[in-house]
Amino acid sequence: MLRPLREGDIAERLEAGRWSDQYSQAIAGDLVPSAEFTQERAAGWFASRPESMKWAIEIDSRLSGEIRLDRIEEQDASASLAIGIFIPALWGKGYGTEAIKMVLDYAFNEMEMHRIWLMVMESNVRAVRAYEKCGFKVEGRLRDSVRTSSGWESDVIMSILEDEYEQLRENQS
Ligand SMILES: CC(C)(COP(=O)(O)OP(=O)(O)OC[C@H]1O[C@@H](n2cnc3c(N)ncnc32)[C@H](O)[C@@H]1OP(=O)(O)O)[C@@H](O)C(=O)NCCC(=O)NCCS
Repeated sequence: MLRPLREGDIAERLEAGRWSDQYSQAIAGDLVPSAEFTQERAAGWFASRPESMKWAIEIDSRLSGEIRLDRIEEQDASASLAIGIFIPALWGKGYGTEAIKMVLDYAFNEMEMHRIWLMVMESNVRAVRAYEKCGFKVEGRLRDSVRTSSGWESDVIMSILEDEYEQLRENQS
């Protein structure tokens, strides 16, 4: 289930504890230390990006991740998408794909967006695959844009346009 993030999520985010090394690696390369979640950090997580649209991903009635639309540009009808399921044991079960599809529905049907785009590390094959399943196409690479302890990594830029999204919906119905 998706729902708006609420202040009470700070306590649940604290319970979820530290970012796992796997999670840090997936979102930012492996040089980000996995820090213990303090009350202050959890509150900072909740308050960050006030200009974004943010939803909690609930799995079995527990806060399990978040999904956001950032960089919302009204003039260009575009926004970027970001998602993270905090608990690695919940990866690969289809939850991410389901959440992304829900947010794409909202972005194209309710917000009347034209383009939703994102950046993902090339090595994050699970995420790339989930985005492809939702209709995102690769539009380019930022070569060696991330430094990790094992070397340089590239980011992939992916996007989906409203007509591609409509086409997918039609094919699925
Ligand atoms: C990225 C993320 C949201 C995807 O959600 P998810 O629920 O794990 O993904 P799904 O189960 O919906 O789909 C994953 C797909 O990748 C495939 N996959 C998983 N590991 C893979 C691998 N090593 N190589 C190739 N494909 C892989 C799965 O088989 C599945 O595809 P399929 O349905 O065709 O079999 C989630 O893994 C996550 O939060 N990861 C940590 C944070 C992160 O990476 N965020 C994105 C940063 S841009």
